[in-house]
Amino acid sequence: MENTHERADASIAAAPQLSRRHIRLGLWSLAAFVLLGAALEIFHAYKSAFYLDAGHETTRLLLRLAHAHGTLLSLVQIAYGLIVHARPVAASRLASGALLASLVLVPAGFFLGGVFAHGADPGLAIALVPPGAAALIVGLVQAARRI
Ligand code: HEM
Repeated sequence: MENTHERADASIAAAPQLSRRHIRLGLWSLAAFVLLGAALEIFHAYKSAFYLDAGHETTRLLLRLAHAHGTLLSLVQIAYGLIVHARPVAASRLASGALLASLVLVPAGFFLGGVFAHGADPGLAIALVPPGAAALIVGLVQAARRI
């Protein structure tokens, strides 16, 4: 019991740093994934063959999913940072690590799976997506338990 309290106290002490880390990384990654959206826009403008030609539907779908999930998971990081700022008791190293892992694994799996797609088959990196989803669930549940 005492150990649990000590762990919670340590997390609360780390809250300002943890909050800032999530807001900062969330803003940087939001900028990167919005930039990816702008790149997709340019592929449309120039009717890029590798993105729009028949037979490249998997590449287009996966790059679109990388953009959409990257932007939304960046917003999740910013939201978590703001939650921890408002309620330091919600700070948790497990939640923080799991949420950051999901930010890397889910969009990276879609992006690399799209770039290295062979016809209708995504590249092997698509295997990063399920562990990323699991990490997101762990992070959200742990954060919810701390509030
Ligand atoms: C927080 C900001 C953003 C979010 C949450 C977001 C989310 C999404 C989502 C969910 C889709 C998929 C839509 C669908 O398939 O029906 C999408 C597609 C797209 N987004 Fe964004 N987006 C954001 C910002 C931007 C910006 C700033 C640009 C361009 C400068 C952009 C360019 C695109 C393009 C071109 C597509 C379609 C790609 C294709 O189908 O080939 N997005 N976005």
